[in-house]
Amino acid sequence: MLSSSSPYVYSFALFLSLFLLFTLAPQFLPPREQQSPVPLQDELDDLHLFHQATVASSGKISHLGFTNPKPKIAFLFLTNSDLVFAPLWELFFQGHYQFYNIYIHADPSSKVSPPNWAISANFIPAIKTERASPSLISAARRLFARAIIDDPLNLYFALVSQHCIPLHSFQYIYKSLIGNPATAVRAFLTQPSHPSFIEILSDEPTLESRYIARGKEVMLPEVSFEQFRVGSQFFILSKRHALLVLKERKLWRKFRLPCLDIDSCYPEEHYFPTLLSMADPEGCSHYTLTRVNWTDSVGGHPHTYHAPEVSPELIHNLRESNSRYSYFFARKFSRDTLAPLMKIADSVIFRD
Ligand SMILES: *[C@@H]1O[C@H](CO)[C@@H](O)[C@H](O)[C@H]1NC(C)=O
Repeated sequence: MLSSSSPYVYSFALFLSLFLLFTLAPQFLPPREQQSPVPLQDELDDLHLFHQATVASSGKISHLGFTNPKPKIAFLFLTNSDLVFAPLWELFFQGHYQFYNIYIHADPSSKVSPPNWAISANFIPAIKTERASPSLISAARRLFARAIIDDPLNLYFALVSQHCIPLHSFQYIYKSLIGNPATAVRAFLTQPSHPSFIEILSDEPTLESRYIARGKEVMLPEVSFEQFRVGSQFFILSKRHALLVLKERKLWRKFRLPCLDIDSCYPEEHYFPTLLSMADPEGCSHYTLTRVNWTDSVGGHPHTYHAPEVSPELIHNLRESNSRYSYFFARKFSRDTLAPLMKIADSVIFRD
């Protein structure tokens, strides 16, 4: 039964709840700029795609050992402009069609025209990518997912950009990565014999400012500063790591947050190296096979090679590394280097 005082009780309760809402809410709700900039529908579409990829791989992988399949390398082009080096890549791929697949994530807002390739390449459904945003992480994950769904024989995934060029022949790269194709599929499935080639660094002077780019303690507790890593945006993942990346949710919830400090915001250079160094440090090379020249870098961009710099000596210099492998790819090359590179393609680049 309602007593006569109930209207007062109600108004007081209403007043009290509004008061509490306005005074306490800012402490409970994340501040506005901490909302994810990834549109909800894109996030849901991606989740669905990544789930499809993990389901597809668990179903098909089991019967691979019964036939005599040849492992393939999936080349994943992440681009927001035309693939200027398509003619060079075409020479690289020529004659090896059973051993690779090509997938392209081209920023839809930058009107990339399809290259005039005689070889087949798959343009995957793409979403706008931007610097200093988590969109490049999403684009890379979309490429892994599409490649996994498309062909269960894709066992290595090489992420490259439109400014990358090959430094060796296809055979050289395939043999270095896969080894003997006759036994490789089984080896891939049963033992972690095939590492991922991804740079993982912890001693960079900019690491601290990049760690706190989203706010002082925002990355905690998922990622402590001691666990935070940096590495090149372009790398080669084995299938088990590509799947691991697609299943991952915990770190993504942090890395998808927008940066407050835009000058220290390179999510794609941190998400993959941090995740893999936390999940499987032994399964990773910790170095990259994509050569990049950071001498005199400007605004986060490495040295870009121009036509007068192209020579056989340059290719030989760029291959040289301190690791077990010679570099496979190099970046960044400008549009005007295509002609001189084509001239030395057969005599230098594809001669190992
Ligand atoms: C790296 O770039 C600098 C200029 O920024 C250049 O002088 C140097 O020769 C380049 N190194 C290589 C190996 O190409």
